[in-house]
Amino acid sequence: MKLLVTGGAGFIGSAFVRMACTRGFEIINLDKLTYAGNLENLELVAGSPGYRFVRGDICDAGLVERLLAEEQPAAVVHFAAESHVDRSILSPGAFIETNVRGTFTLLEAARKARIERFLHVSTDEVYGSVEPPHESTEDDALRPNSPYSASKASSDLLVRSYWVTYGLPAIVTRASNNYGPYQFPEKLIPLMVLNALEGKELPVYGDGRQVRDWLYVEDHCRALLAVLERGRPGEVYNVGGNESLENIEVVRRVLAETGGNDAQIRHVTDRPGHDRRYSLSSEKIFHETGWRPEVSFSAGLPLTIDWYKRHPGWIERVRTREYQQYYEANYGGRGLKR
Ligand code: NAD
Ligand code: TYD
Repeated sequence: MKLLVTGGAGFIGSAFVRMACTRGFEIINLDKLTYAGNLENLELVAGSPGYRFVRGDICDAGLVERLLAEEQPAAVVHFAAESHVDRSILSPGAFIETNVRGTFTLLEAARKARIERFLHVSTDEVYGSVEPPHESTEDDALRPNSPYSASKASSDLLVRSYWVTYGLPAIVTRASNNYGPYQFPEKLIPLMVLNALEGKELPVYGDGRQVRDWLYVEDHCRALLAVLERGRPGEVYNVGGNESLENIEVVRRVLAETGGNDAQIRHVTDRPGHDRRYSLSSEKIFHETGWRPEVSFSAGLPLTIDWYKRHPGWIERVRTREYQQYYEANYGGRGLKR
């Protein structure tokens, strides 16, 4: 089966490409290579027969249409996005452009090319913050609170409309927070791991009692393959890791695993509009596809830390000037030392 993957040079997309290639899928990877896209993430598959990389923007309708016509993939698996909430607060424009207009551009091209499956990779953040003990189900209202989650919710709704209006066989997945190797070190876990290993301060927003459900990236990729094979068009599937933890607990566990010290924790100014709690019910994907998360947080965290310890070159190269500027813009005003 041939897949057009968008955003396959990012964190989750590259894990998916590596997994799908070893399972015999042919892949065309369309990626713009923004700050988050990194071809080093794909060195393991770069020379494989059946793998092709195309550098380009999902907002480029001509390019997307040409690729679909040339390659005739059976399915589109759409990861490409601006993905970081803090960046969406600093600078929301690119989120609207890529996440909303980019998804629209792909949907249009997929409709014209009569694509057999369109898998849209979305997030639990579209449901907004939920009070305990509620677990969001696929029919819950969308109440996004950040420019990032609002742009993803908008794209989910566009996907829905293409199924209802044009019969495009599209599926939406909504996963919880991912972690694992190759994650760009601006997200909670890799940022905390690197700061802990380097003896720096660990910036916890507000009281750190916010709850996220952690999903190991390979479990997410297996869920996407399961949905691609066994999911029903027009449906939405939640993909949770079943590992709900307060941020402060995550940070303490990172410090314990890295030999760091709790004195490194620094509570800093909270994120504006910070969602308190995400929580998913994943009964539907369990029931319909048989998928289950396999990697517990206590197994996945040491695997992740070990990967970062073994890849100092990768870390150094992704912390380019752009990264330094972002770090300063996001944390400078919060009084965090570099
Ligand atoms: P990422 O930021 O690591 O990677 C995004 C990739 O998309 C990069 O390779 C980037 O170069 C590419 N890209 C960005 N704009 C593009 C454009 N206009 N055209 C082509 N390529 C473009 O993101 P990620 O964490 O791997 O997330 C992938 C997807 O999964 C996103 O859609 C995100 O919303 C969703 N998701 C992420 C998480 C998470 O915890 N990271 C959880 C649930 C859902
Ligand atoms: P993040 O990895 O940005 O994912 P998301 O906002 O998409 O859930 O953040 C996870 C949680 O960690 C979120 O509640 C914000 C918090 N956080 C901090 O406390 N400090 C930080 O430096 C970062 C990046 C995140």
